[in-house]
Amino acid sequence: MTTLTATPMGKIPLKGEIAAPGDKSISHRSLMFGALAVGPTRITGLLEGEDVRATARAVAALGAGVERTGEGAWTVHGVGVGGLAEPECALDLGNSGTGARLLMGMVAGCPITATFTGDASLSRRPMSRVIEPLSRMGAVFHGREGGRLPITLTGPADVMPIDYRSPVASAQVKSAVLLAGLNAAGRTTVREPAASRDHTENMLRSFGAAVETRTEDGMIVVTVDGQPELAPQDIAVPGDPSSAAFAAVAALILPGSEVTIRNVGLNPLRAGLFEVLTAMGGEIDVLDRREEGGEPVGDLRVRGGALKGAGAPPANAAAMIDEYPILCIAAALAEGRTEMRGIEELRVKESDRIALMVNGLRAAGVEVEEHEDGMTVSGSGGRPPAGGCEIDASHDHRIAMSFLVLGLACAQPIAVTGAETIATSYPAFTDHFARLGADIQSR
Ligand code: S3P
Repeated sequence: MTTLTATPMGKIPLKGEIAAPGDKSISHRSLMFGALAVGPTRITGLLEGEDVRATARAVAALGAGVERTGEGAWTVHGVGVGGLAEPECALDLGNSGTGARLLMGMVAGCPITATFTGDASLSRRPMSRVIEPLSRMGAVFHGREGGRLPITLTGPADVMPIDYRSPVASAQVKSAVLLAGLNAAGRTTVREPAASRDHTENMLRSFGAAVETRTEDGMIVVTVDGQPELAPQDIAVPGDPSSAAFAAVAALILPGSEVTIRNVGLNPLRAGLFEVLTAMGGEIDVLDRREEGGEPVGDLRVRGGALKGAGAPPANAAAMIDEYPILCIAAALAEGRTEMRGIEELRVKESDRIALMVNGLRAAGVEVEEHEDGMTVSGSGGRPPAGGCEIDASHDHRIAMSFLVLGLACAQPIAVTGAETIATSYPAFTDHFARLGADIQSR
């Protein structure tokens, strides 16, 4: 087990430039959709974190040819929609909810049997949210109580198209149903209460599938026409805004800092955090706005200074669902209160992120109130919180990175145990922070 300690920066600012690592959501999908195309899909900028590597192994076990040709450069030789082979071993998705849920959708569309396993965190997370719609499409599941991993799934001979109203705004649920629907004879529809990230829809369109999105009765409605032939693509994966968030917040809370983060994906359904930070008075400039791999990207120039507490509107939650832990850190240093509500989904992420943020912030001397559906942080107005505590990452990479960022702004160091989990999404995290002048090391 790795323990990392973040040494307080005192009055020293962060300076320099880093490139955001590849987007995790788009990296998973590049491998999966490449596996469903006919022919070679070439990917550059793939995130080579543990989660995505688990997906690479899984699509290979399902019959696709998967080849690493250079740093971040991968080629997937697809087998076509409906062409997946039955894997000989269990598919171990490690820590990855996206890997497990989207692959369940892909397998559910084919007449094969596969067993899904994962780590302690993934084995606690609810899979019933995908089991329910995929069962309606004809798949049969055997899992633990409450729909927990390990789960064995058998897809039907002919998967049925459905019209599914999802109770949660979840890109993973939406994507699982659409992926199963890809092999159905007919049109599959998913209705969600608010728009979740739309990478599946955008990418499937570029692979040649007919995917439509509309709003109906206040719901976001997405349809896919089944049984297309998907054409292989060249994909340049943009940088991950969810990873860029850590250096951005670190720069904001350390006065005098100036940090540039290159190649940050700015899809509006992902970039909610940057809007909230700007509303808090954070100085974030987007330089060289451009398009890469069909996604808007830009370079972020972030300067440190005073922040003031602000509300994080629940309507925006889906567009920043993974960013609440690091928003809590910005809020801890801001002047006044930051209320984050309508985010009960955080309780079923890699960990119960509401409970872990509340307990960890208190241990570091930050005032915070817990709600069933969120938390309210009372910031220090720029004074360094006490720090001097040890935080258990609890198999959650974003909890680990958030508290290491907080440690840089505290009076005493913060140590994070179980910090190896950071490799799931951001293997270069400590290198990048070292490049900006921060001292985050195992000791
Ligand atoms: C993801 C969707 C989000 C997010 C996760 C990645 C994806 O989950 O939390 O880290 O790639 O589809 P939900 O949209 O299912 O809440």
